[in-house]
Amino acid sequence: MRFDVLTLFPELFAPFLASGINRRAFASGQVDVRFWNPRDFSEGNYRRVDDRPFGGGPGMVMMAEPLARCVEAVFADRGEPAPVVLFSPVGQPLRHSLVTEWAASAGALLLCGRYEGLDQRFIDRYVTHQISLGDFVLSGGELAALALLDAVARLQPGVLGDADSHAQDSFNPELDGLLDCPHYTRPEVWRDMPVPAPLMSGHHAQIERWRREQRLALTAKRRPDLIAAARADGRLQSKDEQYLQQLPLPGL
Ligand SMILES: C[S@@+](CC[C@H](N)C(=O)[O-])C[C@H]1O[C@@H](n2cnc3c(N)ncnc32)[C@H](O)[C@@H]1O
Repeated sequence: MRFDVLTLFPELFAPFLASGINRRAFASGQVDVRFWNPRDFSEGNYRRVDDRPFGGGPGMVMMAEPLARCVEAVFADRGEPAPVVLFSPVGQPLRHSLVTEWAASAGALLLCGRYEGLDQRFIDRYVTHQISLGDFVLSGGELAALALLDAVARLQPGVLGDADSHAQDSFNPELDGLLDCPHYTRPEVWRDMPVPAPLMSGHHAQIERWRREQRLALTAKRRPDLIAAARADGRLQSKDEQYLQQLPLPGL
C-alpha cells in the first residue's frame, strides 16, 4: 500500500513515522509513505503557493496550479491515477469503518491543506474524498494525515505484536462496535485501590462476562449511539439487554 502525502511541512512527519510499534510498517515499506511539497511545483523565485481570496476576506488560499502539478507528478510517479484525499473540516468524519476501508486499500494521495483552504476549482477537478478529523479546526491537514496513517498502519497484518490486539479495541465489529473495557496491571493493590475481583478470579468465563459488562456500561454512558447501532444490527444478546436494563441510565 502506498500513500503519497502532499504537504508544505514534510518535516512534521519523520519523527512520528519512526517511533512506536507502527514504525515497522513504515520502515519495511508495508505502508509506503512518500512526501511531495506543492512548493516544488510553484512558479517564480518566491515559490509561492497561496494568494488572496477573490471577494475579499481574511487569510490566504492555496492556488490550484501548484497543487495540480504536484498531483500530476505523483500520478506519473505511481504510473496511474489514484484516489486523492483532502483533509478538511467539511469532510466525512474519520471513524473506524472508514479507517478499515483505507487499511484494505492500495493507498491514496493525502493532501494537507493550510491557510483558509484550497481553491475550489482544484478540489472539483482532482479531489475524490474529503475526510475530517472532527468538528474543530486545525491549522493544517498534517495531523489528520498522521491520524489516518497511524490508524491504517496498526491494522496491517503483523504490525501489532499480538495479532488479536486490535480486535479487542474500541469500535471493532468483532466486539460489536462497543467501547473498550478498563485495563489493569501490577501491582494488585495500588494506593488502596485493588484490581476488580473478577480479573483476579482466574475464571475465564467470569473475566469475559465482566469485560463485556464494562464495555456495555461505558458505551451506554458515553456513546448511547453505539448501543443503538449494535441493537439495530442485532448484535446484542439477551444477557446484554438484561444487563443494560438494570443500569441506572434513563432511556436505554
Ligand atoms: C485553518 S484550516 C481551514 C479551515 C476552513 N477555512 C474551514 O473553516 O473549514 C487549514 C487546513 O487545515 C486542515 N484542517 C483543519 N481542520 C481540520 C479537520 N477538522 N479535519 C481535517 N483537516 C482539517 C485542512 O486541510 C484545512 O485546509
